[in-house]
Amino acid sequence: MARVFLSKHPLIRHKVTLLRNVETEPQEFRALIREVAILLAYEATVDLGVKEVSVQTPLTTTIDHELTDRIGLVPILRAGLGMVEGIWEMMPAAEVWHIGLYRDHQTLEPVQYYNKLPIHPTVQVCLILDPMLATGGSAVATVDILKRWGAKRIKFVGIIAAPEGVERLSTAHPDVDIHLAAIDDHLTPEPSKPGDPPVGYIVPGLGDAGDRQFGTG
Ligand code: PRP
Ligand code: URA
Repeated sequence: MARVFLSKHPLIRHKVTLLRNVETEPQEFRALIREVAILLAYEATVDLGVKEVSVQTPLTTTIDHELTDRIGLVPILRAGLGMVEGIWEMMPAAEVWHIGLYRDHQTLEPVQYYNKLPIHPTVQVCLILDPMLATGGSAVATVDILKRWGAKRIKFVGIIAAPEGVERLSTAHPDVDIHLAAIDDHLTPEPSKPGDPPVGYIVPGLGDAGDRQFGTG
């Protein structure tokens, strides 16, 4: 089974509560996605490789460390976009590779529409960024793409997951660490009457993360 890291950090708890709130407007929603992503990435990168280097301070020469792992940030469009900017500021040498997927409304299976990965892998560690892990289809498809590309170390950084998504991703790819802010209760079933939410949404969740960031829907 994959390792699942569920953050208990009070700042994350507070910000996720604000994200869930239906009254939170897109501008604040985007800021919160950015902030939670930074906090989760901080936890997810605790084992990055470093090497000792010599550094001249104003007072003396000493030995400290610099990163050796090259990092790829892989946002799943659209909702993963909001997680890139803040993390990128923390690791400006990272490369950003976009994967475009949307869920088919009937089957809930991911449909790929964009992939601009170079022919050969250029990074040692890939962080997949997507705030929502619902059925897990999009995350599994993205890991499949990255593995075919040749990526060796892959971590999934999400914000809210359904138990179904965690199970599907960790079963399909037990070597992929999963970093989350919350694992919620269940996914919505097929609507049985007018006014029911569409199938496949995380409950309690935060609604549609793409629509809430971009003011659509
Ligand atoms: C959302 C979300 C994930 C996916 C999760 O994207 O950002 O990519 O659904 O669902 P899954 O785990 O069942 O695959 P969506 O397909 O709504 O596309 P969008 O971000 O472009 O709105
Ligand atoms: N995608 C979202 O944006 N929200 C959900 O609850 C499920 C999939």
